[in-house]
Amino acid sequence: MLGLAHDTDPAWVGIAAGDLPGLLADHAHCELKAAQSALSLLARFSGEHPHLVEPLVALAQEETEHFQRVEQQLESHGGVLGMPEVDGYVRDLTATARRDHKNFPMLLDRLLISALIEARSAERFHLLAEHLPEAELRAFYADLLASEARHYRLFRDLAEQSFGEDAARARFTTLSQREAEVAAALPLAPTVHG
Ligand SMILES: [Fe+2]
Ligand SMILES: [Fe+2]
Repeated sequence: MLGLAHDTDPAWVGIAAGDLPGLLADHAHCELKAAQSALSLLARFSGEHPHLVEPLVALAQEETEHFQRVEQQLESHGGVLGMPEVDGYVRDLTATARRDHKNFPMLLDRLLISALIEARSAERFHLLAEHLPEAELRAFYADLLASEARHYRLFRDLAEQSFGEDAARARFTTLSQREAEVAAALPLAPTVHG
């Protein structure tokens, strides 16, 4: 699905459903981190690549709105937003790109890693939209799934526009294989990427 080379173990959804406040708190932080990442890409790269401004401003706004919606679900499920924790998946994925990142433009890797994170989120939201017991949350995740799948395509398109189709696709294939190793190695947990 969406360029991913490894399917999430279906047992994950039962673990996530068993701790909805924990899942929603982690998810709320993921949305904030997505907004922050879009803003950080703008700060670092939009001078050299002004075509990033419009889509990434819109993305930061949309991810901030997602944060607000997830935070409302968190409150209504009796959870509290704690301090953000390190996302082991994002940390390990970023580390795998560093193995040979000097051979590739930094922006290319940042865009493709963002595409993979969006794709993995969409894959997980698909499982939640299919299997959570609560109908309202299933609909909530079905809606977010469509947004994150669109963001996956946005980041791949931006990578291809900025660096050419062939270069972006070849690097995506490499990073997608490494993402599969990272995702398969993490223990299953009630978090979006765990
Ligand atoms: Fe989002
Ligand atoms: Fe997203």
